[in-house]
Amino acid sequence: MNRFAVIGNPINHSLSPMIHNEFSKEFNIKISYEKMLSPIGEFALTAEKFIQNGGSGFNITLPFKIDAYSFSEELTSNAKAAGAVNTIKIENNVIFGENTDGTGLVNDLEKNLNQSLTDKEILIIGAGGATQGILKPILEKNPEKILLANRTLKKSLKLANDFSKFGKVCGFGLDQIKSKPVDIVINATSASIDGEMPNLPGGLCEGALCYDLMYGIETPFMKWAHDNSAKMVSDGLGMLVEQAALSFNYWLGKKPNTSSIISLIRETVD
Ligand code: ATR
Repeated sequence: MNRFAVIGNPINHSLSPMIHNEFSKEFNIKISYEKMLSPIGEFALTAEKFIQNGGSGFNITLPFKIDAYSFSEELTSNAKAAGAVNTIKIENNVIFGENTDGTGLVNDLEKNLNQSLTDKEILIIGAGGATQGILKPILEKNPEKILLANRTLKKSLKLANDFSKFGKVCGFGLDQIKSKPVDIVINATSASIDGEMPNLPGGLCEGALCYDLMYGIETPFMKWAHDNSAKMVSDGLGMLVEQAALSFNYWLGKKPNTSSIISLIRETVD
């Protein structure tokens, strides 16, 4: 039986075991998938132990995605661009690192929310690790352009510069955002965790799809989007399931059907 896990700190809240167990039922295969709490600073030790005990692959969540990047011996192009790894597989004793977060978001937008990204004007708020993980897969869909706005201007300028080889992306400060509608607004800041939201002009999201990478309860950004005439508002639960499906496929070569699992997980978190 294949042995998988998710390593993080904290890890108790993780929905990954439930999601992967549902995927395995679809294909009638037996897997084990456990939550592993790693002490901070001891990711490599925890991962080594899991591999020695027969683990064939694992997911990595906060705060270890950068440690997992350094731990990997081979990296996919998405992992390299993200500078972070959320999925590791062991094959022929080699540690392969992949990042499925960005493609998970793109799949949620395209498949579940029926939104094409091609030729769209997309505003991404935030220039931290989450943004770095999603930029390449979004740019590969050929949007008209990505506007990248961050509270700290120099971080959005740097990220825009680093990713301009993949497509059109311009960096701004939050205070430079105009009150003019765009097609898609993605909140990739960590503000929602603190029950906050970046200061944004309301006109921005009129008729737009507004997407928060966080999931669970309605975030202040989602409430703001509803109050300011967004055409559609979504949290990141679909992205969570889609990134898991991509990990499952990376390990086992099987593409799970995600829509029924998203509904099931939605019942759990609501
Ligand atoms: P993550 O890995 O979740 O992206 P991170 O790398 O610490 O976390 O980045 C957090 C992002 O959220 C940053 O872009 C941060 O802005 P700064 O670069 O200016 O710090 C942004 N952020 C966090 N709280 C915010 C708030 N209340 N308003 C605006 N931006 C916020």
